[in-house]
Amino acid sequence: MAREKSVFICSSCGAAAPKWSGQCGDCGDWNTLQEGSSRTTIKTRAGGYAGERTTQSLASAQGSAKPRLSTGIGELDRVLGGGLVSGSISLIGGDPGIGKSTLLLQAVAALCQHTTAMYVSGEESLEQIGLRARRLGVENAPVTLLAETCVEAIVATADKNRHGVLVVDSVQTMYSGEVPSAPGTVTQLRECTAQLVRFAKQTGTAIFLVGHVTKEGVIAGPRVLEHMVDTVLYFESDAGSRYRVIRAAKNRFGAANEIGVFAMTDVGVKEVKNPSSIFLSSDREAAPGSCVLITREGSRVLLVEVQALACDNPMGQPRRVAVGYEQNRLAMLLAVMQRHGNLSLAGQDVFVNIVGGIRISETAADLPILLAVMSSFRDKPIPVATVAFGEIGLAGEVRPVPYGEERIAAAVQQGFKRAVVPYANRPKKPLKGIEVIAVKRLVGAIEALS
Ligand code: TYD
Ligand code: MG
Repeated sequence: MAREKSVFICSSCGAAAPKWSGQCGDCGDWNTLQEGSSRTTIKTRAGGYAGERTTQSLASAQGSAKPRLSTGIGELDRVLGGGLVSGSISLIGGDPGIGKSTLLLQAVAALCQHTTAMYVSGEESLEQIGLRARRLGVENAPVTLLAETCVEAIVATADKNRHGVLVVDSVQTMYSGEVPSAPGTVTQLRECTAQLVRFAKQTGTAIFLVGHVTKEGVIAGPRVLEHMVDTVLYFESDAGSRYRVIRAAKNRFGAANEIGVFAMTDVGVKEVKNPSSIFLSSDREAAPGSCVLITREGSRVLLVEVQALACDNPMGQPRRVAVGYEQNRLAMLLAVMQRHGNLSLAGQDVFVNIVGGIRISETAADLPILLAVMSSFRDKPIPVATVAFGEIGLAGEVRPVPYGEERIAAAVQQGFKRAVVPYANRPKKPLKGIEVIAVKRLVGAIEALS
């Protein structure tokens, strides 16, 4: 019999290499190759009958729309696309201690009103879970608990009891007896997740999979797991903040990029129904370097404060730091500002912070970020009741973004009196209660606020 060959698998992209090397040839990351076994792939290729199969027409494959289960937490239902779908598998990622186990225990307790649920923990003892349930006030919910790390045992137990919902906390602690490598390695993660996915699809059990995030901010073996599951949810938070944002990075049953906002309290996570209220402090005073932006995350419009600080740095390379926003995009925007906004930022350190620990990836934040930088640079506040949105092009033009009217309507609702918007997003008819300044170029926006 041929000796079992080992392969080296990259823990960040999942590529396999026959030999170990310091750098992954596929994604270029360093020190990510781990020894694994090629056995599982060989087994599936050799096994099974490669003959004819029965097929189905598209019309007959549609099935009936099943009602979604409510997790009892409106914001979690929202990121899931309107509730939990049976037979779906969702990966929830986040830093340690951010509240993944707490949120799922609360959700499972609420789900028990409609279905049965099992919570499998590979990290905590059953007493610890019991103590937490008491703290959350859900100790009487009929949740089945299991402390186990062997995925075959979990699948067998879940199969026998046929629970509607299964939580596996966390995927990194699970191992499969089929694979010789240690728990937490890519081969194990892949095998355990594959078994759970198969189980979810065969039995219609909805599965939540908890995944830890590595220092680089990605779930270990992210690509490998992300394409296997139906939904990928990430926790985001500012260090020290009690607010948590959950973002759907992928969702086969709803809008991607949808966010849910929560507050961590001493009795568990509570949903925040009007998130704009936490990203804007109620007693804002006009201060240089602050601007309110209007962003659309998933299907919801949010008003968020952005702060900038421009500060003299006569020596050396000026620093450009963005928190909650993409670093490279900030550098690009500052270059546009210098060239087309007549603002000389060479020799200035520029720091940009999105308040409230939310990450903004939308280009609609370009204009407000530059206005905040301008305000800090000139040490002149932007009037408090002013909001802005708009994408900035490399030629210094202000480009339209989708859902302009909806954004302006949200600003009116929050009591803002003035909006700086792209010319193509100007409202068709004049709006009551808000002055809309439609600009075609960055210079126009800067002049309007000077
Ligand atoms: P946990 O759910 O254990 O995090 P994870 O599973 O993501 O690692 O969250 C634990 C943190 O939350 C811990 O620092 C204590 C805090 N916490 C509260 O503030 N209130 C609560 O009601 C509970 C249960 C935990
Ligand atoms: Mg946990």
